[in-house]
Amino acid sequence: MNKDSTLYTIVAATVLCLVCSIVVSTAAVKLRPLQEANKIEDKKRNILQVVGLLQEGQTVEEAFKQVEARVVDIRSGEYAVDVDAASYDQRSAASDPALSIALDKSEDKAAIGAQAKLASVYLVRNDDGSLKYIILPVHGYGLWSTLYGFLALEGDGNTVVGLSFYDHAETPGLGGEVDNPRWKGQWPGKVAYSADGTASLELAKGGVDPNKPSAKHQVDGLAGATLTSVGVTNLLQFWLGDLGFRPYLQRIQAGQG
Ligand SMILES: Cc1cc2nc3c(=O)[nH]c(=O)nc-3n(C[C@H](O)[C@H](O)[C@H](O)COP(=O)(O)O)c2cc1C
Repeated sequence: MNKDSTLYTIVAATVLCLVCSIVVSTAAVKLRPLQEANKIEDKKRNILQVVGLLQEGQTVEEAFKQVEARVVDIRSGEYAVDVDAASYDQRSAASDPALSIALDKSEDKAAIGAQAKLASVYLVRNDDGSLKYIILPVHGYGLWSTLYGFLALEGDGNTVVGLSFYDHAETPGLGGEVDNPRWKGQWPGKVAYSADGTASLELAKGGVDPNKPSAKHQVDGLAGATLTSVGVTNLLQFWLGDLGFRPYLQRIQAGQG
């Protein structure tokens, strides 16, 4: 075939497109299981990191043996027994109408639209079997995105161990400062509930005033990112509230966990 002919150009371009599309689609299909496995490992790594359980030189799989995954009925706070906690995917359940509860605007403080009927919780126990850490998945809307993360509490269900987000699209340097280790370092020791039982964690605009009694519930608001800060406050209060993990934490505190 004449290499300068129109037909040659069309045939060559078509063959090239075909070969490239086969390579790309084969790679996408072949890599999917690997991507899924990486996503699961990343989630486990985040759960371990929020309570500082990932030691250097240890694999995520090894370290995660210390963690007990359970599934909780979000309204009753009771453990769901007929669900495989290791494979349960709360994020995808939240977008399935059969597996989720739609939230009214008035009750949807975290601006998530709907929540999964069943929620994952991750537990770490002391040697005597008592609860050391309770790690709760939390999510809610910031300014540009839904932030997904984990809030870790001590076994009392009230003292914060840490807060860490693993997925969001807030602006780096503004809302993205939720990932700043210095900001995250303010969370340990904060108190989730006030004496009257209100979920009280909060980002304080302008910074925490250590002389105020509310300081024990607060960390500094993110500078130049009031909307993300309000979003984080709202999502924490939602997930610690009556529509979130409060029924579960109350059962834990009553020794029924
Ligand atoms: C490009 C751009 C990105 C921004 N990203 C964020 C953000 O991630 N989170 C946020 O709360 N505000 C962000 N803002 C600022 C908000 O628009 C708003 O001004 C701010 O939340 C008000 O907070 P302040 O009262 O602390 O200044 C961004 C603004 C611009 C121009």
